[in-house]
Amino acid sequence: MNAHLPHASHRADFPALANDWAYLDTAATAQKPQAVIDAITRAYGVDYATVHRGVYERSATMTQSFEAVRAKVAAFIGAAAANEIVFTRGATESINMVAQAFGGMQLKRGDHILLTALEHHSNIVPWQMLRGALGLGIDVAPLTPDGRIDTDALIAMIGPRTKLVSVAHVSNVLGSVADAYANGCAGRRPSRC
Ligand SMILES: Cc1ncc(COP(=O)(O)O)c(C=O)c1O
Repeated sequence: MNAHLPHASHRADFPALANDWAYLDTAATAQKPQAVIDAITRAYGVDYATVHRGVYERSATMTQSFEAVRAKVAAFIGAAAANEIVFTRGATESINMVAQAFGGMQLKRGDHILLTALEHHSNIVPWQMLRGALGLGIDVAPLTPDGRIDTDALIAMIGPRTKLVSVAHVSNVLGSVADAYANGCAGRRPSRC
């Protein structure tokens, strides 16, 4: 478990985590490191201007800074291109966007979505809404006795009608960290990994 706790040097970056305070609600509201607090203060207090819609210098600078973040995030997560990165307010908005965009265009009556038994509401309700609208099936992969996603069962549940697998990487309820690579492979079908 300790392997997953932030190193002491990272803890020092977070003013809200002073005094060894243990914070376990990051999925809902993440604490911010000083560098982020400083950047937000600078952006709102000094550099603020419209992004992508102004023709004056400060707007151009703000747009460059904004797009630089997209490129940095793309490099950090290994995305193929910066335009793969879409900023949203959080998990619920992101999954609703995928459900409405991908679901609306690619899914049809009788298609299935595969989830797991440890998903948060934000990864359940958007699919239930789509099920109601399109007539989809939702399958739920089981967990192992120690609260991890049963990857073998997950793979076995992928059938010809499964069009999307949506899995949390980390559960803040059970503390389990999924094998993202294995689950990613499961989503692409094992034969292609
Ligand atoms: C485990 C977990 N996943 C997802 C969410 C939803 O996150 P967001 O507020 O980014 O939509 C929450 C919010 O509390 C959460 O606790």
